[in-house]
Amino acid sequence: MAMAQPKRPQPAVDVAPLYWYDGGIVDQAEVEIHPFTHALHYGSGVFEGLRAYQTERGLCIFRLRDHMERFLRSAATYHLAVDYTLEQLCQAVVRTVRANPVGEVYVRPLAWFGAGGLSLAPYSHAPTHVMVAVRPLGGYFSGGDERPTVRLTVSSWQKSPSESLPSTVKASGHYANSVLAMSEAMSRGYDEALMRNKYGRIAEGSGDNVFFVRGGTLHTNDAGEDILPGITRGTVLELADRLGIPVSVEPFSLEDLLGADEVFITGTAAEVTGVREIDGAVIPHGAQAQVTARLQEAYGQAVRGKGPEAARWCTIA
Ligand SMILES: Cc1ncc(COP(=O)(O)O)c(C=O)c1O
Repeated sequence: MAMAQPKRPQPAVDVAPLYWYDGGIVDQAEVEIHPFTHALHYGSGVFEGLRAYQTERGLCIFRLRDHMERFLRSAATYHLAVDYTLEQLCQAVVRTVRANPVGEVYVRPLAWFGAGGLSLAPYSHAPTHVMVAVRPLGGYFSGGDERPTVRLTVSSWQKSPSESLPSTVKASGHYANSVLAMSEAMSRGYDEALMRNKYGRIAEGSGDNVFFVRGGTLHTNDAGEDILPGITRGTVLELADRLGIPVSVEPFSLEDLLGADEVFITGTAAEVTGVREIDGAVIPHGAQAQVTARLQEAYGQAVRGKGPEAARWCTIA
């Protein structure tokens, strides 16, 4: 008797149909993932998240080279042999964006260990795969508002210490920590989790970095506090410098945030998003958050290829 063919599950997400997969553009339906894919079981993959924004000259892939440099650094930590140069990977992103003319997109490069043995040193037995996929994405938190604000809750999950999982490495397995924190935050009715580090200070959100403003000075922390030092964080620090906003990079506590004049979070998905509440405490926001507004404006310009950094930050696809 012929075995019934298992039904291929239809993707529940709005992914553009063409991927770059192991060196060429293929249709989504052609990408087979083996059930014994090492990364599926053990999180042995690394990834990036970028955005492409509409400009008058075409789509601006924002800070492409910086993202792909981080991708290669993350891969090296996990002994993932990515057989492509930085230039080839950047070109793979450009090709994937061009192949899917669906407007502004989120771009997801991923490198992972495929099917091999069961050993936890996959570089010794499992092949490396690399792909780039894109999907349409508007505001991550917005629900349609142009300048959304978010409500944060302090997570009961501690940010994994870098001594266990290096926070500067964007690896799939590290995100189990963020999944726990974000799931808890959503179950409490909040938009995002604030994670404390091993010192009890604030590290970052489940998928974004944290800034606050006090007395006109912009404050944030750095990798010593177990954060992923985001590319958006770096962009905001450069923009603040250009705008003449004083900056202090120091560890900070929950009390600093609760006493701040303004709080916002940054990330490729989150962009620059104001915070209006932390666990019931109201944070000044909207018209009261002038520094946030200036940085949001400058960020919105930069990602659309305007401003003095455009040549450095925008790759037109
Ligand atoms: C844990 C974490 N921190 C910070 C960020 C912000 O990083 P970036 O600005 O490079 O997107 C992200 C986003 O990927 C993240 O997942």
